[in-house]
Amino acid sequence: MRSAKTVVGNWKMHGLKAALAEVSAIAAGLADAHAVEVAVCPPSTLLAASAEAARGTPLRIGAQDVSDLACGAHTGDLAAAMLADAGAAIVIVGHSERRRDHGETDALVARKARAALAAGLRPIICVGEGLEEHDRGAALEVVRRQLAGSVPEEARGAGFLLAYEPNWAIGTGRTPSPEDIASVHAAIRRATEPFGAPPILYGGSVTGKNAGELMAVEGVDGALVGGASLTAADFLPIVAAAARTAAGASLAPAASR
Ligand code: PGA
Repeated sequence: MRSAKTVVGNWKMHGLKAALAEVSAIAAGLADAHAVEVAVCPPSTLLAASAEAARGTPLRIGAQDVSDLACGAHTGDLAAAMLADAGAAIVIVGHSERRRDHGETDALVARKARAALAAGLRPIICVGEGLEEHDRGAALEVVRRQLAGSVPEEARGAGFLLAYEPNWAIGTGRTPSPEDIASVHAAIRRATEPFGAPPILYGGSVTGKNAGELMAVEGVDGALVGGASLTAADFLPIVAAAARTAAGASLAPAASR
C-alpha cells in the first residue's frame, strides 16, 4: 500500500472573506503533518487570498471546477491558466454535484482534466455511483464506465488524482462498508494502472471520527472532504488521522504494504 496520504478539503459554495482565517489556521496546523499532502479548495472568490494565506506553508490551494476551454467569450467560466495564476495547484473535476447540477458528461470531464493538465494543475477526477445504482449492485460497472470516459489520454504518467465518491455518501453521514470501498478502489486501481497508478482518494461523509478507519482501508490513499473541511477544528483531526495511518503503513513490514 502507498504510505503517503493526501487529504483535500472541498468547501463547495461556502465561505466569505472571514473564512480566510480558517485557511490560515489549517496551514498553521500542518507543521506536524508528515507524509500527508493537504489541500483546500475554497470558492473561486477566495482562491488568490487563500493562496496568499498559505504561502510558505505545506498547504496547497485548489479550485473546485475549471472550464475545458483556454479563453474566449464564455461568461462566468474560469480557464485553468486563470486558476493557476490565482495560486491554485490542483483542481477538482467531475464532482457529482457538477455532473448533477450542470449536466457534466464524462467527455466534458475528460476535456476539463486535459485543460487542467495543460496549465500545470493536478486534476482530481471524481467518479462514484448514485443510490439507485448502489442498491442494484452496479457500483463497479458505473465507476468503470465513468473512468473510461473521464480520464483523458494526456493523464498517462501525469500528476493526476482520482476520487471515489459514492453520491449517496456525500453529505449524508452514511459511508460504504470498508469491504465495498476496498473493492471499488481495487477496481479503480486496475483500470487506471496504465496511467501511472494515481493516488485514489475516498470521499463522502469523512469526519475526524471515521477518517482513521477509512484511510486504513486497503487501496485508500487519502480523502476528499466536504463538510468537515470548513473549519480547522474539524479538518485538522482528519489530517492527523491520515498522518497516523501513513506512519503506520510506512512502519509495517514490506510484505504487508
Ligand atoms: P462530504 O462531501 O464530506 O460533505 O460528504 C464530500 C465531497 O462532496 O467531496
